[in-house]
Amino acid sequence: MDKIKIAIIGVGNCASSLIQGIHYYKNKSPEDAIGLMHWEIGGYQPSDIEVVAAFDIDERKVGTDVSKAIFEKPNCTTIFCEDIPESGVKVSMGHVLDGVAPHMADFEKDYTFMVSSEEPADVVKVLQETGAEVLLNYLPVGSEEATRYYAQCALDAGVAFINNMPVFIASDEKWAAKFEEKGIPIVGDDIKAQIGATITHRTLANLFRERGVKLDRTYQINTGGNTDFLNMLNRSRLDSKKESKTEAVQSVLGERMDPHNIHIGPSDYVPWQEDNKICFLRMEGKTFGDVPMNIELRLSVEDSPNSAGCVIDAIRCCKLGLERGIGGPLISISSYTMKHPPEQFTDDIAAEKVDAFIEGKLDR
Ligand SMILES: NC(=O)c1ccc[n+]([C@@H]2O[C@H](COP(=O)([O-])OP(=O)(O)OC[C@H]3O[C@@H](n4cnc5c(N)ncnc54)[C@H](O)[C@@H]3O)[C@@H](O)[C@H]2O)c1
Repeated sequence: MDKIKIAIIGVGNCASSLIQGIHYYKNKSPEDAIGLMHWEIGGYQPSDIEVVAAFDIDERKVGTDVSKAIFEKPNCTTIFCEDIPESGVKVSMGHVLDGVAPHMADFEKDYTFMVSSEEPADVVKVLQETGAEVLLNYLPVGSEEATRYYAQCALDAGVAFINNMPVFIASDEKWAAKFEEKGIPIVGDDIKAQIGATITHRTLANLFRERGVKLDRTYQINTGGNTDFLNMLNRSRLDSKKESKTEAVQSVLGERMDPHNIHIGPSDYVPWQEDNKICFLRMEGKTFGDVPMNIELRLSVEDSPNSAGCVIDAIRCCKLGLERGIGGPLISISSYTMKHPPEQFTDDIAAEKVDAFIEGKLDR
């Protein structure tokens, strides 16, 4: 089987979990591989993914082999596969643009980004020279300019794009059209974890709708202690994250809720939680006879492996898109793995669509 050559923007916690996972599943069989939604997609197993390029701006990561950079501070996610062989791929200096929020400078170096003084690399050239096929965007929330910059690099280099964060590219008509014109697949936007706050909230909202219960009010409050949560302390960077997370729930309700009655957001930074994310969920509704009921739920997950469990499928579907010459958004895998896809479906329908896409029965 061919390798799927990927390049990564942002060698943070999510990239660490993804790369650990590629190696973790190398010596497994389908029977003992826990934690995958698909062992094989179009003949590709997780271990068929190879990192050929990576970009970051942190002085502890730039110039370091990717296999080591993923364990550098301020990364703090759990280490479930520590023996990662040297890859020969050194992290290239990226383009900072708006990737680093000013308030990040107010925190101790072990917990925040330290911007390198290296000159930025020629991203398009690196992508072309390394033969990268899929570029993954893991920039911090609020990196509007930087995300558009790297998305354009993907277009210029002729490389597919997976947008794991909430700047709208795959779900933006103009950007989607650019990828379609170039004949390059794109998956996005904003990765939805395997079992995280969004899919749990969506599933319960769908259950309310299917069982005829009116959802009157709901909140989803999330706390965590990684750099993603630290970055999100700056509320001005949060608009698209809030829209992405709120829309993911609104879209499965029969009737949209008044915005006053739905509060969803990254809510606070608790340093000692590190990559453990805790979600507090409340849903208030009315059942038969207009009688009130409510649900309270507390979810505790390690944030980054949870995202990698979805990205590992998005990469392999992207490769199928490339092989099949599909340009523009891959609708099925985007709705299955992303919070803000170009088209929303309930998660069971999205799962069916992905299987149909893999089998070649659905174009996108
Ligand atoms: N963990 C999840 O389940 C999850 C779910 C949905 C979305 N996301 C999103 O994925 C993104 C990545 O999350 P993470 O936890 O890995 O974040 P992280 O903070 O651990 O990693 C971000 C990385 O980007 C680097 N960076 C900053 N500016 C850059 C630039 N201009 N060019 C290149 N690199 C730059 C940082 O140095 C850091 O290594 C975030 O936007 C997050 O909201 C994560």
